[in-house]
Amino acid sequence: MFICRNCGYKTFKWLGKCPECGAWESFTEEVSSRKEREDPLPSLTNIRELSTIKEERFPTQIKEFDRVLGGGLIKGEVVLVGGEPGIGKSTLLLEVASQIAKNKKVLYVSAEESLAQINLRAKRLGIDAENLFLVNEDNLETLLLLFEKDFFLIIIDSIQVLKIASLGASLGSLVQIRESANILTETAKKKGVSLFIVGHVTKEGVISGPKALEHIVDCVIYFEGEKNSNFRILRAVKNRFGSLGEIGVFEMTSSGLKEVENPSSIFISGEGRSSSGSAVGCVLEGVRAILVEVQALVTRASFGMVRRKSVGFDFNRFSLILAMMEKRLGLNLGNQDVFVNVTGGIRIDDPCSDLALVLAVASSYEDFLVPRECVFIGEVGLSGELRRVYNISQRLSEIKRLGFLYAFIPQSNLEKLNLKEFLGLKLYGCRDIKEVISKVKNLKGKN
Ligand code: TYD
Ligand code: MG
Repeated sequence: MFICRNCGYKTFKWLGKCPECGAWESFTEEVSSRKEREDPLPSLTNIRELSTIKEERFPTQIKEFDRVLGGGLIKGEVVLVGGEPGIGKSTLLLEVASQIAKNKKVLYVSAEESLAQINLRAKRLGIDAENLFLVNEDNLETLLLLFEKDFFLIIIDSIQVLKIASLGASLGSLVQIRESANILTETAKKKGVSLFIVGHVTKEGVISGPKALEHIVDCVIYFEGEKNSNFRILRAVKNRFGSLGEIGVFEMTSSGLKEVENPSSIFISGEGRSSSGSAVGCVLEGVRAILVEVQALVTRASFGMVRRKSVGFDFNRFSLILAMMEKRLGLNLGNQDVFVNVTGGIRIDDPCSDLALVLAVASSYEDFLVPRECVFIGEVGLSGELRRVYNISQRLSEIKRLGFLYAFIPQSNLEKLNLKEFLGLKLYGCRDIKEVISKVKNLKGKN
């Protein structure tokens, strides 16, 4: 079997050019390292043993991190931590390592950075842990020996720079990354060592990124954030031992990552003043309701080229909503540039924030003010109708807690609510976006 070092394409005969990725002379014969490991019968694990593993959770004491893991780390769990270079993966994991090292032996394998660099970072974070060991090593075969040394947790930073001498693949290629991850995961499981693997997500996309490893590991978490924001969001996209959808929020400061326990406060910018083109919505992330501010700028397009840009919203959804607004509200957006931004660098998946987007765009287009005391919740259908949203009580509790005065919600939700719970918060049930907009304009008139 021949395998392309660049993309992993397999073929039975040697080819000069890879039909998959087009690379020249990239084929090498698959080496025997895999065969050796496949020889003995696979070891069987009884399902009862698995359930005993499951019960042991080791909290890292970093609450936002534990939340994403599902309550703490499990012995033998393999976690892939992905993110763009420079986002703060090493910082986060060094902090996690030092917390776990309070009770357990931890090894931090720094394959990318020298120990002097780690030392600088550790000083900056104020880390000093007796049970935390470091090694600057990028040879996988050597690293495997360290799994014998009784560590509870090993952190590999990063998978992209590990070398496997016996494999002819070039550094950072898919084959080499996948093989390293396979071998490490296998060894970790066998020895009962928990493992964090750092994987850079590269701009070019998935090929050399951690996407190709997602099926190998137990848990995949991504660390993300906007370039110009200090806020970082940790999100699980796969978790064999916990629920998805939970996020952890951090702020990168000059002395490391700080947990943000009240994320709504950071996603809503500035105080007090009403402005056009801005509306507050509420998204549910796991079990937490978080308020977010959606900002829109609608301006006449110049040179007949219409620009559309969305930061934080899924672009397809954004386009769909603009088209729907054009049709249902009669807005002439066809010759307008539309830019949308969700403050704080959060990425929104919850469709219930549609209504906030509609309000932000409409208010910028028509230049009317949306009072700051309003929050908008609702998924918007293609004919402009508001769909029922789930977990409305939880969202309204958060809205009330943060002192907002008015909440616009789908009429169908309002009918089923226990209004006594939300005294002090005025609820407006609406059927469609037209009704919401006219009520908002009226509200302004009253103030
Ligand atoms: P790093 O953890 O090295 O990112 P990654 O491992 O994902 O590549 O963090 C890189 C950035 O974080 C770097 O630009 C400096 C910044 N930083 C702080 O702002 N404060 C800190 O305390 C630390 C350690 C880093
Ligand atoms: Mg790093």
